[in-house]
Amino acid sequence: MKSVAQKLDIISIRNQFPILHQEVNGKPLVYFDNAATTQKPQAVIDALVKYYSTDNANIHRAAHTLAARSTDMFEDTRKTIQTFINAKEAEECIFTKGVTESINLVAQTWGRKFLQAGDEVIITTMEHHSNIVPWQMICEEKGAILKVIPINEAGELLMDEYDKMLSSKTKMVACVWVSNTLGTINPVKEIIQKAHALGAKVLLDGAQACSHLAVNVQDLDCDFLAVSSHKLYGPTGVGVLYGKRELLDAIPPYQGGGEMIKEVSFEKTTYNEIPYKFEAGTPNIGDIIAFKYALDFVNEIGKENIAIHENTLLKHCVEGLEQINKSTNQQIIQLVGTAKQKVSVQSFVINGMHHFDAGMMLDAKGIAVRTGHHCTQPLMNRLGLDGTIRASFSVYNTLEEVDVFLEAVQRLVLLTAKYTK
Ligand code: ALA
Repeated sequence: MKSVAQKLDIISIRNQFPILHQEVNGKPLVYFDNAATTQKPQAVIDALVKYYSTDNANIHRAAHTLAARSTDMFEDTRKTIQTFINAKEAEECIFTKGVTESINLVAQTWGRKFLQAGDEVIITTMEHHSNIVPWQMICEEKGAILKVIPINEAGELLMDEYDKMLSSKTKMVACVWVSNTLGTINPVKEIIQKAHALGAKVLLDGAQACSHLAVNVQDLDCDFLAVSSHKLYGPTGVGVLYGKRELLDAIPPYQGGGEMIKEVSFEKTTYNEIPYKFEAGTPNIGDIIAFKYALDFVNEIGKENIAIHENTLLKHCVEGLEQINKSTNQQIIQLVGTAKQKVSVQSFVINGMHHFDAGMMLDAKGIAVRTGHHCTQPLMNRLGLDGTIRASFSVYNTLEEVDVFLEAVQRLVLLTAKYTK
């Protein structure tokens, strides 16, 4: 991994992404929907083609050469993600189909075994639905109570409120590391330390964080971390659940089936060791193998270098949006998510224009952004909004693209100003 910050050759990075070199609606594609999913470098695409062209076989089952090759490559991804997040053991990394499944796995196994009536689970106002609903379901089943850490207007957690909420009743703190809607980086180390001081466990939703920030689960001391491949330049349908060995050993399997067993009889089944205990059935072998190439891509550039570039894009975008407000002498653009610590995600609304209309008009210019509630409806309710326009930047985006975007937004603002006079 490159450790010394250096200026990136964005053109050569862009050249690794074939999808970026196309026109959409007659304009060069500007892809600013990276928080929804990142594009895939050629190495990932090639790995998929190679796997199905030359290596395809089921894993951990047969004695033949293709099965051995396929198994080795599959387990190689496990070692690569272990290093990527600095887990103590590769066995602590379980493959799932995504962050949603990783969180459901913990809620349905750890939650079912350890939660009792009256226990408390803490989440935050800025959670994605995937870190709300699984906890609501298990809390309802167990008679446990879900508590929510509030936020300030900038989209930062009110840590004093968290302190007040914590008690001996707290059993789990399930917290998003980086908000997909606001870009806020939450103070997860402090959250973890405070939860652990009271004996509670912590699960981090790392869906957005893992592509922007250095990840060191041993240093963080989180109990669980959910990772997404497709937000990290890898294929869809792949996720990782990191869990501390002692916890994964202590909780029951999530799903029953092949691979997760030691011995099966009609009377009784014994379960496999971790990670296989949690990997029932044939996994998404090809995509998991290709995920390694996405991690290699990030390692090759270096997270620090990626962050510097992405932050430059974010700063340019925010300054540009503020400038549009100044030039029109009206606060037509309302920035949503202005935390001091944030990644390259900027939500905003154009007062007087529905976010969906804005998204359509930007698309007509070849610009892809996400609009809507971003699967964070409770956050939208807190902010008094029904949706935002969200631009999210990745390592392959350029300042020139931000300029194209700002020019298009300025047109929308002028249009709105004209019709709302
Ligand atoms: N959670 C993804 C997003 O924020 C889909 O767009």
